[in-house]
Amino acid sequence: MPLFDPRPKTRREDLYDRDRELEALQRAIAACQPLVVLVGPRRCGKTSLLQVALSSSSVPSIVIDCRVFEGRTSVRYADLLRVLENSINEVAKPFAKLLDFLKRVKGIRVLGTGIEFESYSPRRVSLSDVLKAVNDWGEEEGKCVVIAFDEAQELSKLRGTSILPVVAHAYDYLRNLCLIFTGSMVGMLYRFLKLDNPSSPLYGRSFVRIELGPFTKEESRDFLHRGFQEYGLEPPSDVIEYAVEKLGGIPGWLTLFGYTAVTRGRVDRAIVDEVLDIASSIALEELKHFLELRYQAAKRYVAILKAIAQGFNTWSKIKRFLEIEEGARISDSDLYLLLKNLIDASIIRKTNNEYIIHDPALKYAILKKGSILAK
Ligand SMILES: Nc1ncnc2c1ncn2[C@@H]1O[C@H](COP(=O)(O)OP(=O)(O)OP(=O)(O)O)[C@@H](O)[C@H]1O
Ligand SMILES: [Mg+2]
Repeated sequence: MPLFDPRPKTRREDLYDRDRELEALQRAIAACQPLVVLVGPRRCGKTSLLQVALSSSSVPSIVIDCRVFEGRTSVRYADLLRVLENSINEVAKPFAKLLDFLKRVKGIRVLGTGIEFESYSPRRVSLSDVLKAVNDWGEEEGKCVVIAFDEAQELSKLRGTSILPVVAHAYDYLRNLCLIFTGSMVGMLYRFLKLDNPSSPLYGRSFVRIELGPFTKEESRDFLHRGFQEYGLEPPSDVIEYAVEKLGGIPGWLTLFGYTAVTRGRVDRAIVDEVLDIASSIALEELKHFLELRYQAAKRYVAILKAIAQGFNTWSKIKRFLEIEEGARISDSDLYLLLKNLIDASIIRKTNNEYIIHDPALKYAILKKGSILAK
């Protein structure tokens, strides 16, 4: 089930549209740009775009899935090394030469068709040595090697060390590496990379920025029609309209709807409602991760989200709502910070002085299931 396959897409023909973004990413990879930042709210297709770009470019790549650190309060260097070791082993098999280069890195052993770090201590294996070995291999092969950190904002939880100096060094000297950072918490990713912070190692470096947003209404309808067409189905347009209205243009939710409908063998409004309910539970779980890491202000975040979901969505309306809820005054600076954190985590967006929850599933979750968050 190509278009409605719920996993991230890997083949061009399964990826709906995104011509411009895909071309930009392919161009960046072909030119071996040192730094690419791929951002967009959750489930808009970042991993799919990355995978399709990688599979269509004949470059070797190592993808490090930082989402495994979601929900954690802190990440140790050793955790990152474990994930890196796995990611290398996932791709190393056909590249015997790469293993030769990695073998020379202090603290790395080669076992059969994979590698093993002798220890996960930063003193034993250095990330820059690993990157240098990968780069030198690329240089010898005359190839650019992509190293992608998916959901890289999670690396801001790395304690005791920062990878930014390593990234800056790679940017300046490792000419055969293309580093890609993706993130669905857009502001948090930028806050982590600190590209515009003069005290950061990455300050002032230019980079390729690619942004993925939700589908427009027109694209959403077309996506659904085409997806159903692959099964010889022509659902009534009022059901498509209902799905687009309820699920917004979030590709992940539309895909889930298509997948569920096709699996059940019927396309009707009840399936849309059911998918919205599932989607809202998923969105709520993710919000819980955000709140768990900020448990001291969790109640306030929930109150703000309730205000926005109910339409009290300007600065003054949110403030009044919160003050009534708490029975106490709240300072402008506190409210500013809370809203900024929600924006940086891409949970809300600000447009024309109004704050909005752009994911309809999350909005639905807050309105219908928000009570379980308030405790
Ligand atoms: N352009 C597209 N065409 C077809 N399916 C898509 C497209 N974009 C996303 N999808 C589907 O939507 C879902 C989410 O996609 P994907 O995992 O690539 O997004 P993401 O932005 O990486 O999400 P997350 O933020 O959760 O990591 C998957 O089921 C994927 O197959
Ligand atoms: Mg992803």
